[in-house]
Amino acid sequence: MKKILSLVLVAMLVLAGAAFAEGKVGVAMPTQDLQRWNQDGANMKAQLEEAGYEVILTYSNNEVAKQVSDIENMILNEVDALVVASIDGSALGTVLASAKEEGIPVIAYDRLLTDTDAVDYYATFDNYMVGTIQGNFIKDKFDLDNTTETYTMEVFGGSPDDNNALYFYQGAWDVLSPYVEAGKLVVKSGQTDFQTCAILGWGTDDAQARMDNLLTAYYSDGVAPDIVLSPNDSLALGITNSLKAAGFTLEEFPVITGQDCDVTNTKNIIAGYQAMSVFKDTRTLATQVVKMVDAILSGEEVPVNDTETYDNGVKVVPSYLCEPVFADVNNYQELLIDSGYYTADQLAG
Ligand code: BGC
Repeated sequence: MKKILSLVLVAMLVLAGAAFAEGKVGVAMPTQDLQRWNQDGANMKAQLEEAGYEVILTYSNNEVAKQVSDIENMILNEVDALVVASIDGSALGTVLASAKEEGIPVIAYDRLLTDTDAVDYYATFDNYMVGTIQGNFIKDKFDLDNTTETYTMEVFGGSPDDNNALYFYQGAWDVLSPYVEAGKLVVKSGQTDFQTCAILGWGTDDAQARMDNLLTAYYSDGVAPDIVLSPNDSLALGITNSLKAAGFTLEEFPVITGQDCDVTNTKNIIAGYQAMSVFKDTRTLATQVVKMVDAILSGEEVPVNDTETYDNGVKVVPSYLCEPVFADVNNYQELLIDSGYYTADQLAG
């Protein structure tokens, strides 16, 4: 009996050992201002710790200099791998070069690290697809292929220092621009190119200020645009705030798109102020990145599913693209509550 027990014990230890990786991983997140990055950071930390890693998690207040020093500290702390969701994807070249010199592998998280050879892998949601989901939502909602009506639309772009922002814009614009050219969608401001529509830093207040200006300059007749293409939820919130402050009622509200399914925005979707959001389950991305870390540190083949799209200016970075999905008032219950992403209480009221 004693012998059997000790054999079981040895087997358990071996099994535990096999499942328990060793090492220290630095996870650099951009900011705590936006709900999604808090969730990303928390999921990454939890999943890495569960896999047996020690984790250093930092948030850098959207300040590039702070993110540089946060990563420097991780290198000093002898991390075995770095996972970086950058503020400005092109601004980390020097510190990443030091990581490379120390032999520390680097995974770009959600946002590509550009103009550097010191990035090994990239894990994200398919950013172009985020834009096409938004564009197709508008196309279907207004039946643009068949309608004889014209609809007014304004366009917002994300932060120009974020490599993702152009993909979001391009995905949506590739779907919608034919209807603009055909005159079915009318952008009263005429502002359609990415740089003119971009909001540096993804700020809600800056989006609100731009929407205020658009309303004053082009919608002073008191009729709101029919559509506002917004790449994400932080901008959608600013746009919504602006329209509310200008006195537009729910019935007069445009169709506004978004991304991230932040709590406030999901509440707006339920209430009817925002039409949709693109859901990128941060748990899925974290799981994928933990798999990458595991594979890199154990010398196994790293799981990627795209080796063509993400050229960072120096190299094409092997990537794993997760699939984003569309969320609206009809499917949020299943997508966000039944899946355990939020509790019903979080979305109530
Ligand atoms: C992310 C989006 C997010 C935006 C603002 C992008 O890089 O992919 O999910 O809404 O940054 O933080």
